Amino acid sequence: MDARDLRRLMGTVGTARGLRSVRTAWRRRCADAAGLPRQGAERARVPGAALGADPGPGGGVVRFARSSLLVRVAAGGAVFCGWDGAGPEPSYALGGSVPEVDERAVLEPDKDGGWRVVSERVLVVVGRHGSVEVRTPGGVLLRRDLPPRWWEPVAPPAPGDSAGPAAARWTQRSEVPPDARFFGLGGRAAGPRLREGTYRLWNTDPGGAFEPEDDPLYITMPVQLVVADAGTHLAFHDNSWDGRVTLREGEEGAGSGHDRPGRCELRMDGGPLRSWVIVGTPARVLHGWAALTGAAALPPAWALGHHHARWGFGSEAEVRRVVAGYVERGLPLSALHLDIDHYRGHRVFTVDRERFPDLPGLAAELRELGVRLVSIVDPAVKAEPGLAVYDSGAEAGAFVRDGRGRAVRGEVWPGESVFPDFTDPAVRAWWGGLYAERLAQGFAGFWHDMNEPVSFVAFGEPTLPRSARHALEGRGGDHREAHNVYALAMARAGFEGLRALRPGERPFLFSRSGWAGMQRYGGTWSGDVATGWPGLRASLALVLGLGLCGVPYSGPDVGGFTGSPSPELYLRWFQLGAYLPLFRTHAAYFAGRREPWEFGAEVLEHAGAALWERERLLPYFVTLSHLARRTGAPYVRPVWWRSPEDRALRDCEDAFLLGDSLLVAPVLEQGTDRRAVRLPRGRWYDTATGRAHEGPGQVLLDAPLSRIPVLARAGSVVPVKGADGRVELEVWAPAAGRTGGGVLIPDGGEGWESAEVVRFTTRLRDGVVTVEQEGAREVGYPVRVRGGEGAS
Ligand code: NOJ
Repeated sequence: MDARDLRRLMGTVGTARGLRSVRTAWRRRCADAAGLPRQGAERARVPGAALGADPGPGGGVVRFARSSLLVRVAAGGAVFCGWDGAGPEPSYALGGSVPEVDERAVLEPDKDGGWRVVSERVLVVVGRHGSVEVRTPGGVLLRRDLPPRWWEPVAPPAPGDSAGPAAARWTQRSEVPPDARFFGLGGRAAGPRLREGTYRLWNTDPGGAFEPEDDPLYITMPVQLVVADAGTHLAFHDNSWDGRVTLREGEEGAGSGHDRPGRCELRMDGGPLRSWVIVGTPARVLHGWAALTGAAALPPAWALGHHHARWGFGSEAEVRRVVAGYVERGLPLSALHLDIDHYRGHRVFTVDRERFPDLPGLAAELRELGVRLVSIVDPAVKAEPGLAVYDSGAEAGAFVRDGRGRAVRGEVWPGESVFPDFTDPAVRAWWGGLYAERLAQGFAGFWHDMNEPVSFVAFGEPTLPRSARHALEGRGGDHREAHNVYALAMARAGFEGLRALRPGERPFLFSRSGWAGMQRYGGTWSGDVATGWPGLRASLALVLGLGLCGVPYSGPDVGGFTGSPSPELYLRWFQLGAYLPLFRTHAAYFAGRREPWEFGAEVLEHAGAALWERERLLPYFVTLSHLARRTGAPYVRPVWWRSPEDRALRDCEDAFLLGDSLLVAPVLEQGTDRRAVRLPRGRWYDTATGRAHEGPGQVLLDAPLSRIPVLARAGSVVPVKGADGRVELEVWAPAAGRTGGGVLIPDGGEGWESAEVVRFTTRLRDGVVTVEQEGAREVGYPVRVRGGEGAS
């Protein structure tokens, strides 16, 4: 029992839930003792010496004495490596089809008995003992995977042992350039730059609220983005089992003047040893990643406005009161979220009709005011015969079972519960159909929660037993493999269900947990971030890190999940949230209020300004959502996005780029009214003062309570909402002799119509800023030039 267990146990002593969580924990332990294979004696194995190779399309197979390695370069330059016969499929991460191979890339003998594959974008060198180097076409080393090592069970399972053979564990060590920085691994509160340490790959509800040092959290992914002078690359180990990644940054000129490479060690408890590596600029790498794992779902335009949530509105009257508060004060509001307290006794897909007697009526009323209703959806179904969802699920055999075929029971909000097996296509279809009830209640969006999946336990891991059986698309397996993809498969069920139920509308869905590829179905949010200044910082870390793992749409609980933020903290959180894709205030049941008018007149004034600025930037956000879908580039990018060679930028974690045009420098510290901002190269205008600053370098900018510093890149075109509600272009003067530009993807809607990209070029000629629209004689939008004199 560790400290977390003890905390949990103490918190539940004496309550009915406490007793049930002791029982659940005990059952879980017994289930695993009986149902998991025994990890007996193991034998280590390494590939051994290369014996030969069989060239094939895109690369080929290198045969070693005790293993084989499939190397294949895909048409876009992504490199696949699969050991022991592992191929790219089956995979939960891939977005559909496996990318075509690059027919011109062929395996050929290299010096010293090794092999290599030469391709346009990347050079792969396989050493004669099984190391794999990924180099730039010019030969510069980006990553060296050392020969892997497996630990395999020595003896087969005893006759009659139903648990089957123990899994083969494996380890892979890699080296990266000494100057490299690590990012990614899913949502890590201590990021975005991942410091030295060990990071676990097991989706986890930390229980209560989390602080930056809490790890792992709800979304883990074996996705590393590595940024070095030599280039950027993304390495993905397509394996959903539990594992650990240990990172160690390198050092130039370490011991006796020699460089020490950066190191990364991956240890997995089982599953295939296979990986993808994508190299290039950050933009190219993320583009390649989206091509591999699927384009991000496009949120409906309204989802880019402001959302207000809380656990415990408790009644329709309270919902009306909050919405009226926004309306009366003339503050924009796009969506209002109902948490589990609107369910009947916390049962998913039900409504407490005493407190919410007419949800469809409420939804229609809010819709008139431009406010959509969003519903929480938890996966756990109360194990209660007579409850429609339980009965239909039981009849369909939809719930996760143990090795003896009995539904696995856990403890969640409604009490004793069972869990749909989303890794079964038939279960996904059943679950997807249940959203019809939500749509009939008037909900327009969906918030998936508790899907790590959580089962409250007094001790041990707060999830299902590892021995629980799962369909895994018909292959069959257990929770050790299914755990990390549970929420991803739930998101797929919801997304596909909604598409079938409302074919004309883009589903709006975001999910607390997930895995590589989750962007295909929607976004995520920070989860239960602790209220406090460290939580504010963690909020940004999570959004940045997830973006680099291909999940562009996310945001924190503005104000923090727990307690009551000070007015200053609330305001600074609000000002940050206004520039993040999901802009949502939310709080726990016993937490204080989060309405902008609850923190005094001064906060209301400044939060109102942030809300209106977000409203003004909506055309830009909509454009960024389309760009994320088309190019894989997240809306929120690290400041090194376009200059990864700038080492000072690589270490900058307190500012971000919003698209190509804006640089946002939130205030993350108490009592600050000025802050240092590190600029990438080029000219940047402080949008509040119009003053130009030249990068690269650091500037000190005012950050009074009324605003946070936001800078615009010289030459950029930012589409904004004008006073009349129509799109206009805010053009920031290019530096002399330079050109600039930008795009607008106009789309006010929620349907599937394809939106056209409108491109603009800007120039400064003879002191006058000119704007041209591609393919048009005249610019079709009103233009407002800033940061320079004159316009045409
Ligand atoms: C945990 C979620 O993270 C939180 O946002 C939600 O309010 C509670 N569950 C209750 O549903």
